[in-house]
Amino acid sequence: MKTTAIILAAGQGTRMKSSLPKVLHRLAGRALIDHVLEAALKATRETPVVVVGHQAERVAEAVGERGRCVLQQPQLGTAHAVMTAEQILKGNTDLVLVINSDMPLLTPATFTRLIEAQQNNPGPVSMLTIRGEDSRGFGRVVRDSNGAVTAVVEEAQATPEQLAIQEYNVGNYCFRSDWLWPALQKIQKSPKGEYYITDLIHLAAAENQPVVAMVMDDPDEAIGINTRVHLAEAEAALRKRLLTHWMLNGVTVIDPASTYIEPSVIIGVDTILQPNTYLRGQTVIGERCVIGPGTIIEDTIVGDDTLILASVLEGARVGSQVSMGPFCHLRKDAHLADHVHMGNFGEVKSSYLAEGVKMGHFSYIGDATIGENVNIGAGTITCNFDGARKHKTVIGKNVFIGSDTMLVAPINIGDEAKTGAGAVVTRDVPPGTVVVGVPARELKRKTPGE
Ligand code: UD1
Ligand code: CA
Repeated sequence: MKTTAIILAAGQGTRMKSSLPKVLHRLAGRALIDHVLEAALKATRETPVVVVGHQAERVAEAVGERGRCVLQQPQLGTAHAVMTAEQILKGNTDLVLVINSDMPLLTPATFTRLIEAQQNNPGPVSMLTIRGEDSRGFGRVVRDSNGAVTAVVEEAQATPEQLAIQEYNVGNYCFRSDWLWPALQKIQKSPKGEYYITDLIHLAAAENQPVVAMVMDDPDEAIGINTRVHLAEAEAALRKRLLTHWMLNGVTVIDPASTYIEPSVIIGVDTILQPNTYLRGQTVIGERCVIGPGTIIEDTIVGDDTLILASVLEGARVGSQVSMGPFCHLRKDAHLADHVHMGNFGEVKSSYLAEGVKMGHFSYIGDATIGENVNIGAGTITCNFDGARKHKTVIGKNVFIGSDTMLVAPINIGDEAKTGAGAVVTRDVPPGTVVVGVPARELKRKTPGE
């Protein structure tokens, strides 16, 4: 049965007290809408319809190709929002999965179970509910003496008896679409002047049609974001979920309370994450690495058996058996091959450091290619910027760069060459040559066979 999701994202999110639309607030590094779009696509395998309204253009731009946006203007409630999707979906889908955009922790697996429940339901609608003491302001699920669901009542309109009910509406439903579109026409305005989707539950029950209420086991999944307090709760719950996943898959996390892993990250077995570590974006960490304490790694691929202490890596690549830190900074397109050693206060950008390169102390390497087993002395700087343009530095194999060398790019240093301490190298250095001074001059050249 073809199922298409409608994501309700037109609401203002007044209680966030923000100029940013609620669905663009970030959770674990991604916008709320990103989490929901991904879950909807995984569960239905169809491009979802996204109902936008408040700051519609901004939200639609964030959705991009991942959803078909429809405009709800003005925003007259959750049922009215679903109605705006009818023009696109009528006759096009068997089931409609309605998703609240402010519940980013609901998993594809939960949506799949809801869809399956509706596939087996002779009635027109299935819904998600949770039980517990904390209502979080959710609507109450009213059941009759046989336990059949008869209605959902909003907290603001509930009687004292209804307020005491401890089963709550999560706000996500799966409808048979041939029933949904005509049913929406029958909904009356609420006392608040809005059309409530929850009235459809009562409508189905009044037609003596079975409503399936699927009670969820994990109440964390139903954390809805209405305020920034909820946003922090959701962050904590999602973080716990991701950390638990990695620990159960062979990663040691010394201090879960201070370790942050975004959903897109992949980590190999027997890697140890030390406290105060952040792994973000498209990061992949190999096996048996030790990361941290105090490390931030974003959009970076790291090999096996690598140690990274108190460092920041962004958009970089690091090989296996590399040791880094403390206080290294790898920037975009820094590439460290296997067995590289980088000590304290090194910065590398847009450069390749071949196998065995050693860069022990405070250096800047930018726009450079550095050959195997080169030793980069303390304080070495590639002067890659002349005020207008960036230039390349190329260093051959087995070169020894003396302490405090300035390499004024563009420049080539041949294999086996050496620079003296404090050299300012402004011209290419042939292979096997020793240069010293300011500007650097040839001291001696290796004779063949020496
Ligand atoms: C809704 C449910 C409530 C449930 C709760 C769970 C109704 C009437 N009530 O209440 O029973 O317990 O969710 O979170 O549905 N939206 C639009 N257009 C509108 C209004 C809302 O797109 O005109 C979107 C919002 O952006 C939001 C979602 O619909 O993503 C839910 O709206 P919201 O106002 O947050 O409903 P709740 O009061 O939380
Ligand atoms: Ca809400």
